Amino acid sequence: MARILLTGGAGFIGSHTAVVLLERGYDVVLLDDFSNAARDVPARLQRITGVGVPLIEADIRDEAAMAAALAAFPVDAVIHFAAKKAVAESEADPLLYYDSNIVGTVRLLAAMRRAGVGRIVFSSSATVYGEPDECPIDEQAALRVTNVYGRTKLVMEGMITDLVRTRTLKAAAVLRYFNPVGAHPSGLIGEDPTGVPANLMPYLCQVAEGKRPYLNVFGDDYPTHDGSGVRDFIHVMDLAEAHEAALRRVLGTDGDFTVNLGTGTGYSVLDMIGAFEGATGVKVPYKIAPRRPGDVAACYADPARAATLLGWRATRGIEDMCRDAWRWQSKIALTNHGP
Ligand code: NAD
Ligand code: WQD
Repeated sequence: MARILLTGGAGFIGSHTAVVLLERGYDVVLLDDFSNAARDVPARLQRITGVGVPLIEADIRDEAAMAAALAAFPVDAVIHFAAKKAVAESEADPLLYYDSNIVGTVRLLAAMRRAGVGRIVFSSSATVYGEPDECPIDEQAALRVTNVYGRTKLVMEGMITDLVRTRTLKAAAVLRYFNPVGAHPSGLIGEDPTGVPANLMPYLCQVAEGKRPYLNVFGDDYPTHDGSGVRDFIHVMDLAEAHEAALRRVLGTDGDFTVNLGTGTGYSVLDMIGAFEGATGVKVPYKIAPRRPGDVAACYADPARAATLLGWRATRGIEDMCRDAWRWQSKIALTNHGP
């Protein structure tokens, strides 16, 4: 079976993808600098899957360390999750984002070339569409940079597709995620941002836990069905399964492709509050607050290309997303945020 290196493999999406790959028989190697992940993630993956996972602690910007990792663990492909991902932080410190994301990816790609690894799956984002002209958004939609984080994703997409065109890489998948939420149903892995969560679901979960008094709903005057922002929330396990489908294609077919990974259905912030309360029985106090600068009214995917090309579509609904996110949040509340 193929052996795959997951950069950022201890993070939110990487750890869930590791579970799917391990359960489907792949050899998995994790690489992470633990700048945004808990050190016990590999142990938790072993509890879920029964398989021990080799771990390399390294920064992708350290090309010598990347070369050493690929020499110690010859791999068939890399799934490249490692990145900094906070939009506001990227605007506050652009150079940090150019360095971590763009320079880090250059170094990773150079180490892959030295090691003769020619296949990569790359974590991109719907942020590359900026303010879309229409929804659902397909892969031909205009690409617009609206923040530094988004710029780094567009630059990295371009680098990777250039390398396929110039035959430096054999194959690449560019995966544009919409809004990943939820957690593994075991409640053993999930998302636990440090500080005040920037994203809706982690914030909502911390309100439900009682750690924060109420949720700010950023805007109720958007041209959407209830006035609050609409997004394409996708269960992280669906996303993880999409990586395995993309990986299969990258391992078997030369060339590059770009696909949206979303459900195709938009739900509003108020829909998510209602779904969470319905799925968990826990009340989520909220207040209407002003719009958050930089937000778009609606953003959801046309997921048809992923279905045609990869034979993948999301199967989990918002109740699953809320229930699984809450199961995980309730456990970390006990271990991390308890009295
Ligand atoms: P995450 O922060 O949980 O995971 C990223 C992991 O990479 C972390 O474990 C972190 O410690 C590690 N990392 C960061 N910089 C590193 C470096 N220089 N060297 C080695 N490791 C490093 O984030 P995530 O939500 O799992 O996101 C994974 C990828 O998906 C990222 O590329 C992100 O930009 C992209 N993405 C995320 C979302 C989202 O909403 N979560 C949406 C679209 C795209
Ligand atoms: C969703 C909706 C908010 C918090 C971001 C990045 C994007 C991608 C995913 C990485 C919006 C509203 C939020 C809160 C709220 N990440 N909201 N109260 O902005 O769609 O996407 O994460 O690639 O690049 O921009 O996600 O979860 O922050 O917001 O009302 O406390 O929830 O206004 O309508 P977003 P989000």
